Amino acid sequence: MLDTIPNNVNLADNPKLQRALLRWLPDFLDWWREVGPEGYQEDRIYLRTAVGLGAGDWAVYDYVKMPDYRWGIFLANPRKQDKIHFGDYIGRDLWDQVPGEHRKELRRLIVTQGDTEPASVEQQRLLGKTAPSLLDLRNLFQINVEEARHLWAMVYLLHSHFGADGRDEAEEMLERRSGHADHPRILQAFNKPIQDWLALYCFTTFTDRDGKYQLCSLAESAFDPLARTTQFMLMEEAFHMAVGETGIARVVRRTAELMKAGTDPQSVGAIPLQVIQKYVNEWSSASYDLFGGEDSSNAATYFAAGLKGRFNENDDKRYGNHLALDEAYSAKVFENGGWTTREIPLRRAMNACLLDAYMDDCGRVLERWNRVLEEYELAARLTLPSIRFNRKVGIFADQHYDIQGNPIDQQTYDAHAAQWLPTTADYELVQRSMIPVYEPGKVAAWIAPPTRGFGGKPLDFEYVQFH
Ligand SMILES: [Fe+2]
Ligand SMILES: [Fe+2]
Repeated sequence: MLDTIPNNVNLADNPKLQRALLRWLPDFLDWWREVGPEGYQEDRIYLRTAVGLGAGDWAVYDYVKMPDYRWGIFLANPRKQDKIHFGDYIGRDLWDQVPGEHRKELRRLIVTQGDTEPASVEQQRLLGKTAPSLLDLRNLFQINVEEARHLWAMVYLLHSHFGADGRDEAEEMLERRSGHADHPRILQAFNKPIQDWLALYCFTTFTDRDGKYQLCSLAESAFDPLARTTQFMLMEEAFHMAVGETGIARVVRRTAELMKAGTDPQSVGAIPLQVIQKYVNEWSSASYDLFGGEDSSNAATYFAAGLKGRFNENDDKRYGNHLALDEAYSAKVFENGGWTTREIPLRRAMNACLLDAYMDDCGRVLERWNRVLEEYELAARLTLPSIRFNRKVGIFADQHYDIQGNPIDQQTYDAHAAQWLPTTADYELVQRSMIPVYEPGKVAAWIAPPTRGFGGKPLDFEYVQFH
């Protein structure tokens, strides 16, 4: 049993929970085989497997067939503080159990987070067929097994703390499908197809980074099992974001190298900078929406109840106090033909606060990508679209804004949309570049080689052994 589900949550002492999880396991494996990575289930992949926080490292590295990956359940070490540190219950003891009055909200938070994990595996399931290198292929599968483990992490919370309706929710996690017309995943960005590797790198840069900020806010939670579960997940999430950031940096490097040499990237199967920019615009703006409405009564409830804090809520230099009462968040919006400032009571603006922290982080990523262009002495730069661009959710959703955030009418938007967001022709261009390269140490023509290997192995290591 303990071999089946490695854990540091004393599963051995909880036979009821063991039975529930063992009943869920075959359904999970059916899901994995049906909509997990297509075509590589029998191959040996050099993978990192989380094994918990003990005397040694938190993970081990070895060849594994993906269906044999040991999806475990882990909590981070106990937090330094043992009191609730924000909201209405500030100063009281952390909760080991779900308080009845916040059960519904906690379940919704856990289900919403949990649903994104299998969704991303479904979105990425065909990408193995076009990986630009063996290391990238391995990285994709690493992300896939870890997202599936994150589903385990949330299902553990549902099974151990929410009784029969938690078990129902856990089953439904395996029933919804990314992009399905009748039974889609909960959040919109997780229903968008990730059709090529440029989209994967953008997704892991921008959408996994939204995940990081959501996990960080849950890692502040008064509900201790949730806080410590999400804290552990963040260790794995860092790698996913690194795959995205270094992936785009490598695409930019290859394109810059060709531009510098006076070669049209497209002529050699590489990707023009403008197309990279459009992908950045598409995936960053879709990820802004994941934060939810800037003015949100749910957000206020979550903060007041101590369920979800701000980014680094513990940082007293960052926040004057942790009550967030009698303060407002100012948001500039364009309505009825003019700019107005909306004063949102701070607790209702928690999504906006989290999105601001995320935007700063994304800004730093863009700076690092632009250093590659500087290195090649090119004048062109990549930019992060305005927080107001292309929004479907929140206070900027009712009005069109251009890429810099200036209000524009529908006609102007329509006239420029093809300059800002990928067109069918752009998707086709990228698709044509997606020629798989599976020889150890070799890499596709549209991307520069990685700068280092994984798990201490060299670049030309055989990261995937095909059966
Ligand atoms: Fe995840
Ligand atoms: Fe992730």
